[in-house]
Amino acid sequence: MLDTSWEKSGKWYKNIVGDEGHYYHQKIILPNSLRLLKLDKKDSLLDLACGQGVLERQIPDEIEYVGVDLSPTLIKEARSKSDKAKHIFGVADVSKPLPIDKKDFTHASIVLALQNIRKPFGVIRNVKEHLKVNGKFLIILNHPAFRIPKYSFWEVDRAKRVQYRRIDKYMKPIEIPISTNPGKGEKSEETWSFHYPISAYSEMLFDNGFVIEKIEEWVSDKVSTGGAADMENKSRKEFPMFMAILAKKIN
Ligand SMILES: C[S@@+](CC[C@H](N)C(=O)[O-])C[C@H]1O[C@@H](n2cnc3c(N)ncnc32)[C@H](O)[C@@H]1O
Repeated sequence: MLDTSWEKSGKWYKNIVGDEGHYYHQKIILPNSLRLLKLDKKDSLLDLACGQGVLERQIPDEIEYVGVDLSPTLIKEARSKSDKAKHIFGVADVSKPLPIDKKDFTHASIVLALQNIRKPFGVIRNVKEHLKVNGKFLIILNHPAFRIPKYSFWEVDRAKRVQYRRIDKYMKPIEIPISTNPGKGEKSEETWSFHYPISAYSEMLFDNGFVIEKIEEWVSDKVSTGGAADMENKSRKEFPMFMAILAKKIN
């Protein structure tokens, strides 16, 4: 079976994320996720593929929080960084039935990770199982239409002076291995990315009794300088990096 956990890349990943998250966590992912989750003191959050706990550190003490990831190294790191009594972590494959008794979480999340899991439908089935009716489920994706590893690129049309996004494949699912250290060649650790078109996510949610309340698309806030800055800054605002899906379990 393909091991999609980031155990082998755990040391690298825990360092690039650090305490506060990497650049996009801090600037885009975490503030917007918290805004969409809108957690209240009495709420509870099931955070799937939580990594080294970057979201947990933003969740107030009084909110019950359960974080699950397949990588023991990342879970150990998450535990060592947390001292909140109502926050717990566990190691498990989140695409298989979970060893968690609670079936009435008010919220669930999966941040930048559903695309690293071979069976995303298993993950969504689990959320259905552990979320109460009317509970909210937040999915944050690398944008599935514009950021398909190895099949989407920036290119430049020199005549029009336009930087555009080239997409080579989209509709069919793709399994994509990614070297975390390309300089090491074949010895580099790998992570996996599993591409699905947006309609596939809609269908997985629909099949599990969810309705999509909202989709947001988030662009990078970085700013280029130099000769191509104008073109780069314009295109960066046109093509979102991330997509957020906020779904509600209705039955
Ligand atoms: C890009 S990281 C995101 C982690 C975290 N949510 C964050 O934003 O930092 C992807 C995570 O998915 C986890 N993962 C991959 N396959 C998994 C599976 N089948 N079950 C649980 N976690 C898995 C990896 O171990 C890794 O921590």
